[in-house]
Amino acid sequence: MNTSYRRRRLSLALLSIISQGFLFAQQPEKNPFSQNSTAHAPHILSKEAVYGHKAMVVSAHPMASRVGAEILQRGGNAFDATVAVQFALAVVYPVAGNIGGGGLIVARMPDGKTFALDFREAAPILASRDMFLDSAGNVIPALSTHGHKASGIPGTVDAMVQLHKKYGKLPWKALVQPSVDIARKGVFLTTREADGLNEVRESLEQYNPGKSYFLKADKTRWKAGDKLVQEDLAQVMERIRDKGRDGFYKGKTAELLLAEMKRGGGIFTQKDLDAYTAKWRTPLRGAYRGYDIITMPPPSAGGVGLLQMLSMLETYPLKEWGVNSEKTAHCMIEVERRSYADRAEYLGDPDFYNVPVKGLLSKPYLASRMASYNPDKATPSSELTFGKDVRKYESDQTTHFSIVDPSGNAVSLTTTLNGAYGSKVVIGGAGFFMNNEMDDFSVKPGAPNMFGAIGGEANAIQPRKRMLSSMTPTIVEKDGKLFLVLGTPGGTTITTSVLQAIINVVDHNMTAQQAVATRRFHHQYVPDIVRIESGTFSAEVESALQRKGHSFRNIGAIGKVEMILVRPDTSLEGAADPRGDDSAAGF
Ligand code: GLY
Repeated sequence: MNTSYRRRRLSLALLSIISQGFLFAQQPEKNPFSQNSTAHAPHILSKEAVYGHKAMVVSAHPMASRVGAEILQRGGNAFDATVAVQFALAVVYPVAGNIGGGGLIVARMPDGKTFALDFREAAPILASRDMFLDSAGNVIPALSTHGHKASGIPGTVDAMVQLHKKYGKLPWKALVQPSVDIARKGVFLTTREADGLNEVRESLEQYNPGKSYFLKADKTRWKAGDKLVQEDLAQVMERIRDKGRDGFYKGKTAELLLAEMKRGGGIFTQKDLDAYTAKWRTPLRGAYRGYDIITMPPPSAGGVGLLQMLSMLETYPLKEWGVNSEKTAHCMIEVERRSYADRAEYLGDPDFYNVPVKGLLSKPYLASRMASYNPDKATPSSELTFGKDVRKYESDQTTHFSIVDPSGNAVSLTTTLNGAYGSKVVIGGAGFFMNNEMDDFSVKPGAPNMFGAIGGEANAIQPRKRMLSSMTPTIVEKDGKLFLVLGTPGGTTITTSVLQAIINVVDHNMTAQQAVATRRFHHQYVPDIVRIESGTFSAEVESALQRKGHSFRNIGAIGKVEMILVRPDTSLEGAADPRGDDSAAGF
C-alpha cells in the first residue's frame, strides 16, 4: 500500500467515524457531581464532564476534539494532536479557529520541561503608529476592527510547522488530512454557529461582495443542520499538507492572500509573509498556595496579570469566604482593578518594549499595590493609576483547547482571529477568514479598543511588532506533577476567567467541570464596572457589593474555559465549558 493511499484510507475511516458521531469503544463515565450539585446552584451551569484513563482533548467543537483524540489513539503525541486540532478548528469553527490568525501555546513534558510558542500576529512592515487615526488625530471608527487594514500577519501555519518539526511524532500529512476531508465533505452547523454567521451577514456582504461561501447562495439565513462545504479552504489545506509553511506563506495561497489585501486596501506584502516567524519563549512561573503556575509571558498580558492577581489574593481566606460571596468578590474585583491598571501602562511586545516583568511580579511591589485596598469600599478607578515605582522592583472571539496525551505531555493553546470571524474579510479563492488583531494594539494612547482596554507607549503600533494579547494558556502543577491544563477565549476577560477557574479548584475544592461551569465576573480597571454573567451573584450579594461602590453590567457569557484535571489516581477529567458547543473527548 503506498503512503498516500494509506493516508487517504486512514483519513476517510476517521471521517466516517466522526460523522457517525462515535469514536471510542469505551464510553466516557458520567460526572457523578453534575446532576445534583449543580442543578440547584444558580451560579453554576451544567454540563457533563468526560473522564479518561490516559488522554484527553477539550476544545470548542466536538469534531475538533474527536480529531485530536483519534490522533492520540493512533499513537500521536499531544503536539501531533495540537496540529490536527488547530487545523480542524480552522474548518469546523470559523468564528475563531483559524489559519488567518495566531495564538499562544504553553506546554509541559512528562519530565517537567516546559516551553511557550508565541504565534501572535505581527504588524505589517508598512504599518505605522497612527494608521488608524484621521488627520485630526481621532480614531477612525471600525478601521482597526473591520476590513483589510485590521489584520496582522498570520502566525498559525508557521507555528504548527515549527511545533511539529521539533516535537511531532506522526507524519505531518496525516495531521492535516482530516481538515482537508472535513472542509471538502462539509460540516453541519449547530444553532450557535448558524446564528453567529447570520449575525455578521451584513459585514460579510460588505467585505466579500458576491464571493463568500459563508453567505448562503440563495441568500436565506443559516439554520442548524445546514452543511457548510469549504472547497477553497480544502485546497489551501492540501497545499499546507503538501508543502508545509510554503503552502501558506508562498505560492498560490500567498498570491490569493496578497491579491485580496490589495483589492481591499490592505498593506500586506510578500516580505511580511517571508519574515513572519513564530517565537519560542520561556513560560512564566509563579506559585499559589503550594501549586506551581506555568503561564504565558509577554506579548501576552495574561500570564503577568494572572500571576499578579494570584499573588495579591494569596493572603486572603477565599476558601473561608466562599465562592462568589460578597467578601470574595469584592477582594477579587479590587485585585483585578489593580492588575489591569498596570497592564494598560506596562504590557506590550517584549521585543520592542522593555516590559518590567520582574517588578510587576515582585511580592513587595504587589503588596504596595494592595496598600490602598479597603475591604468595605470599592476604590474608584479614577483614583487609581498604575504602580509608579515598578521599575524599582525590578475580541471577543478566541478559542482554546487543552490536550494531555498518554505519556503525560500537556498542551494549552489559545488561538484567535480577535473578534468573531476576525476582520470579516474572507480571502477570495482561499476561503479563510483574516484576523482583526491590529485592534489589540493601542491605536491611540488612552483610546479603548473593542474590549474597552486602554494602553499607551508599550503597546503602540510599530512595523513587525506583536500586539498585546490577553490570551492566558496555563498549566498548573501540584507537588511537581501535572495537575491542570486550561485556558479560555474572551478578550480582556480571559485572564480573570483563568484566575477564577484556578481559584475554584484550589480554594473552593471544585471538580474541573464545576470550576468551569461556575458563573464569572470581571473588572479591568477601565471602564470602572464589574462585568457579570446573569446569576453570578445572589441578589443579596449584588446589593451588598453595590453598597460598597461597585456597579455591574450583565454581558451574557464570560469566557469558555476548557480544562483538564489530573485526578489523584492519574485518570483525567475533561471539562468543556457549558456556555458553548464545547466538548471533551478522552480514552
Ligand atoms: N485577541 C484577543 C487577545 O489576544 O487578547
